[in-house]
Amino acid sequence: MEKAGERNQTPKVEFILLGFGNDPELQPLLFLFFLVIYIVTVAGNLLIIVLVVADQYLRTPMYYFLGNLSFLEICNITSILPRLLASLLTGDRTITLNGCIVQLGTFGLVAATESLLLMAMSYDRYLAICHPLRYAALMNGRVCCQLVAGCWLGSFLCGPPVSSFLFHLTFCDSKEIDHFFCDFLPMIKLSCDDTQTLQLTTFTVGGIGLFVSCLLTMASYFSIISTILRIPSTFCRRKAFSTCSSHFTVVTIFFGSMITVYVFPRTNTPKVLHNIFSLFYTVLTPMINPFIYTLRNKEVHESLRRVSLKLTAFRNSHKKFKGQMLTCGKKEMN
Ligand SMILES: *[C@@H]1O[C@H](CO)[C@@H](O)[C@H](O)[C@H]1NC(C)=O
Repeated sequence: MEKAGERNQTPKVEFILLGFGNDPELQPLLFLFFLVIYIVTVAGNLLIIVLVVADQYLRTPMYYFLGNLSFLEICNITSILPRLLASLLTGDRTITLNGCIVQLGTFGLVAATESLLLMAMSYDRYLAICHPLRYAALMNGRVCCQLVAGCWLGSFLCGPPVSSFLFHLTFCDSKEIDHFFCDFLPMIKLSCDDTQTLQLTTFTVGGIGLFVSCLLTMASYFSIISTILRIPSTFCRRKAFSTCSSHFTVVTIFFGSMITVYVFPRTNTPKVLHNIFSLFYTVLTPMINPFIYTLRNKEVHESLRRVSLKLTAFRNSHKKFKGQMLTCGKKEMN
């Protein structure tokens, strides 16, 4: 009884996200910087989703995967930036325990799904380049759907159970999280419970997941590259490479920064470097993905042209219709 009473008296746990310091002159600049990044990221990824959904020529597994990746990137950045923007604008850097766990849980879930999806995408490219004759039979809409569903299922099975443990932690005096979002380690460091088991479980599950998906992705690329190098004609070699070079870039940045942050212990890297690498996979990858995929991709260029032509045609017909209505109205008035 007494214990329950005590619990009720404990004030709501709140954290302070230290973010990028407290320099009042820096805050507006940071706000603008992240606002632009956020808008560009959401717009770019939405554009890809619209193209994949609206253009019938992009209805292939590779672009289904890309559309899903763009959706994940929007979720990824939305789990982090709006909260950061709000705190830069208002100067209020507090976040509740529940808010923190929701942010961490969402981010973890999306990041896990993303690394599985990148693995599925590299498998798709592997089939397309190493087994081109059997590609249509092995990879179709149904298989693609199953793979996407599998990615979500895999991360749902691991993510939420781990996050749910965080609700049971007790936190002591220090409430300052030395990061710009609620990441696992900075948050768990503040608990006064024994978190060794939780840390071990999380790092085993996360580490195995990251390691396996990274390894399989690398294996796919290894076969892809060795197959491409064996193509005798330079023209075909370049063409084959162009269908997977953009994906390869994205994979390298994503896994590279993720592994740098989580595998190399925080104590050995300076805080600034740690924050910068975290920015890579939380903010930078989501932002540059659409550019990487659209800038050098002829199919996407053509699709952009088709969809914008369709849009102008639609707008013109709409204008014409409105014009006709107007003249009709005038005739009637006369
Ligand atoms: C995601 O993948 C599914 C299954 O392949 C596909 O039907 C859907 O269109 C994709 N979503 C987007 C936004 O591309």
